[in-house]
Amino acid sequence: MIRLLFIGDVVGRSGRAAVFEQVPVLRARWRLDFVIVNGENAAGGFGLSEAIFEEFLTVGVDAVTLGNHAFDQREALVFIERQPRLIRPVNFPPGTPGRGAAVVESAKGARLLIVNVLGRIFMDALDDPFAAVKRELGACPLGETCDASVIDIHAEATSEKWALAHFADGKASLVVGTHTHAPSADHRILAGGTGFVTDVGMTGDYDSVIGMEKEEPLRRFIRHIPSGRFEPALGPATLCGVAAEIGPDGRTKAISPVRIGGLLSPAAPDFWT
Ligand SMILES: [Fe+2]
Ligand SMILES: [Fe+2]
Repeated sequence: MIRLLFIGDVVGRSGRAAVFEQVPVLRARWRLDFVIVNGENAAGGFGLSEAIFEEFLTVGVDAVTLGNHAFDQREALVFIERQPRLIRPVNFPPGTPGRGAAVVESAKGARLLIVNVLGRIFMDALDDPFAAVKRELGACPLGETCDASVIDIHAEATSEKWALAHFADGKASLVVGTHTHAPSADHRILAGGTGFVTDVGMTGDYDSVIGMEKEEPLRRFIRHIPSGRFEPALGPATLCGVAAEIGPDGRTKAISPVRIGGLLSPAAPDFWT
């Protein structure tokens, strides 16, 4: 059995503090094989620096995925080339630095394929996410070159996320949605054995507008005139994620939301107690 925790979009200092504090505790408490974090908002809400990325690895994160904010910190265009555990969207244009998929190995030798892919509905027009996922799963079949796989579908539209999950059902262990910064209560196991949730939610301060201090987003909605920068909210974060137990056949056997701290009601898997 493989025990995996996927943590959603870490926003700013408050989100990072929750990851740094909780990941070592949860790794030990639940005897986790893999911890993956979406880090696209980790540096001041916009992108990821190498120092923060390395700090994630130090506290026990195995790999970091990204999204539409992947390269907001320009240094990521350079350091992603030397960091095999940093994964950017696979359907960025050909020639984009870094990789859109990677296999990482657990301490016990289990091999996990991780794919990050961007949706196209209400987002930038990129290459077909379905074709990209088909290509990556085909290149690394479950039970052959990997023991489990997780796809981070970073997308705005619920419909696109559901469609991609059904598309991957039976071929991936887990499909997790990110990007909306709000956890959805629809975690489930699809007919073919693929675990799925529309969105794992953000790891950040929920007394905010999707992780940012409320004042500037409100001004822009009301007046439609930018009058300041977006700054991450600094109150206590809720760590949001999903926990999944994956069987020897690469299928998900149990899935649960995880919510720790901050304003949201707590949640934890009951199958690892
Ligand atoms: Fe995000
Ligand atoms: Fe995003």
